[in-house]
Amino acid sequence: MPEGFDLRGHTALVTGGGRRLGRAFVQALAAQGADVAVHYGASAAGAQAAGAAVQARGRRAALLQADLADPAQAAGLLDRAVEALGPIDLLVNNAAIFEPLVMAATTLAAWERHLAINLTAPFLLTQAFARVRAGSPGAVVNLLDWRALRPGADHFPYTVAKAGLAAMTRSLALALAPSIRVNGLALGAILPPPEATDPQAPPPPGAPIARWATLEETTHALLFLLAGPDFMTGVILHLDGGRHLA
Ligand SMILES: NC(=O)c1ccc[n+]([C@@H]2O[C@H](COP(=O)([O-])OP(=O)(O)OC[C@H]3O[C@@H](n4cnc5c(N)ncnc54)[C@H](OP(=O)(O)O)[C@@H]3O)[C@@H](O)[C@H]2O)c1
Repeated sequence: MPEGFDLRGHTALVTGGGRRLGRAFVQALAAQGADVAVHYGASAAGAQAAGAAVQARGRRAALLQADLADPAQAAGLLDRAVEALGPIDLLVNNAAIFEPLVMAATTLAAWERHLAINLTAPFLLTQAFARVRAGSPGAVVNLLDWRALRPGADHFPYTVAKAGLAAMTRSLALALAPSIRVNGLALGAILPPPEATDPQAPPPPGAPIARWATLEETTHALLFLLAGPDFMTGVILHLDGGRHLA
């Protein structure tokens, strides 16, 4: 477990905390002493397991279901977390969808779904977070992708939404300073997509460090952004084996 990231006395909300990276983030935060509100959409069993892992560490957990495609549910989620656990001072905007659509195949519905879940929900959550922090310190991390800063033609609505989230990360770092720090974690090949059938699949080509990341590397980077230097805001940290340079 990384040292120097003491989160005792802090309370986090992690969106999409019921599976894969979000669940690893929940567990890493609790391991550092944070209480955690675990948001989920459809992964109720995974969220329960994540919450149980938090409680097994002696920390408090709350499970909160919300469909982040619905702006009203996204806007209300932070207040529900505060009702459940008291003041929330760490927000991890992790939930996202990632559909393999090129531009020509992108329907208006797919476009709107990606923007709603991947961009509008983090905006509404951060707006609510800033309101309830009311000038008290806090930290936000937005989960990005190396594609956000080097858009290609693949995963078109996903990439556009993540590019918007990267821009929002920097804009909100300015808007919410000095009390709230807003940083981004731009990931490369961390986990194969859930639909991948071969867990030993080679990583996508193109990264100078040609392997999948470990979950420990990924949670370490998240903890660094949340609990590292207080002077750090507006940073977009790439954890992608150098893929964004290639
Ligand atoms: N895995 C990678 O290698 C990789 C690479 C680059 C960037 N990232 C970014 O890292 C983050 C996590 O990645 P991942 O691979 O763990 O993602 P994932 O397996 O696709 O999980 C997506 C999460 O988002 C939630 N979600 C999706 N639609 C939702 C909705 N309408 N309402 C509520 N929740 C919704 C899901 O919750 P439920 O299951 O509960 O519905 C799930 O927890 C994402 O932001 C992703 O873009 C990941």
